[in-house]
Amino acid sequence: MSELELPQRQTPDSLMLFGFWYRAMPSGELTRSQLRQAMLLETMLVLGRDQQGKPFALRDACPHRGMPLSYGSFDGQQIECSYHGWKFDAHTGQCRLIPSLTSDQNLKVDRIYAGSYACEEQDGYVWLFIPDPPPAGAGFTKSAEPPIPVPQVPAFGEKFKIAHLTADLPCSVDHGIIGLMDPAHGPFVHQAWWWRTRHSIHEKRKSFEPIPMGFRMSAHTPSSNSAPYKLLRLYADAEAITTTIDFVLPNQRYETIQAGKYWFASLTTVTPITRDHCRIDVVAKWNIFRWVPFGPELLKFVFAKFVEQDRQTMEKQSEGLKHNPHLMLIDDADRPAKWYFQLKAAHLEAKRTGKEMRHPMDGPVALKWRS
Ligand code: FES
Ligand SMILES: [Fe+2]
Repeated sequence: MSELELPQRQTPDSLMLFGFWYRAMPSGELTRSQLRQAMLLETMLVLGRDQQGKPFALRDACPHRGMPLSYGSFDGQQIECSYHGWKFDAHTGQCRLIPSLTSDQNLKVDRIYAGSYACEEQDGYVWLFIPDPPPAGAGFTKSAEPPIPVPQVPAFGEKFKIAHLTADLPCSVDHGIIGLMDPAHGPFVHQAWWWRTRHSIHEKRKSFEPIPMGFRMSAHTPSSNSAPYKLLRLYADAEAITTTIDFVLPNQRYETIQAGKYWFASLTTVTPITRDHCRIDVVAKWNIFRWVPFGPELLKFVFAKFVEQDRQTMEKQSEGLKHNPHLMLIDDADRPAKWYFQLKAAHLEAKRTGKEMRHPMDGPVALKWRS
């Protein structure tokens, strides 16, 4: 019997998690010639590339009087603020020059910092490490090395294709994420003659297990009611096709499909922009259909269709959410969503107390639903 939990404890809290790497923008959107603004976790940022093409990110507010640095000029190494001409190193944010100082004024210019963020490129995206904000009233200092590496889309060989896709979602990161892990919307939102119809709905049973900072839908043979899987089985000439799906805090969903020597892997992230706005980015690598000239376009088309269906759904959902309705999460179909909230709470609790994180799952579980 489905048990309805107290909605207050289960509804999205829109809390954004600091101390993780987040995708800022596709690498191709960042050029050497232009500074770009971006917002992540309600923080305004300015991004650019130096002379060598290495990306950087600073808080888009001058530490002097708050002028957005994105209005300033950039010479390939330093950004000059448009208001009083203070200059900052683009990578470290360290102040290099205050033009108004006279020769007998000995203000220590190099102790002043514009907030800077660790910045790396991975799989066609610029990623930023967003640490906890400094305490209110405290200025920025040199940014610390991120304690964790940048997430990567797995690859199972040297040769593969790669493509990405992005969409803005008009909802909080929590609704974006639980929408992503929700198995019950498939037959209603993702209908297509070549994929599945709502009449193909049937009972499913999947095993889940805890993994560090998340959970895994254990390797299983994908649902047989979809055409692409039938096609794949034929093409790969492999009896065993397995899919593994991992969710890892704060926002990462890894999906891996393997069929003989062929594989497909993706990393989808849902990035908080503001409290009620997020962005979904999918990066996929694969060696299936690598020789087909329109392979990437075809896959991109299929993916784009799914993401667009989700985006439209969430756009409509946001109309309902505006009025703060009473919500519920049911067993078993919404259990992954419950785990997400529990993981988030456990992570925050561990951070608060300094103790090790207590994983909400104490072992493997099987969930059943119809989809
Ligand atoms: S506000 Fe930037 S130099 Fe004054
Ligand atoms: Fe979906």
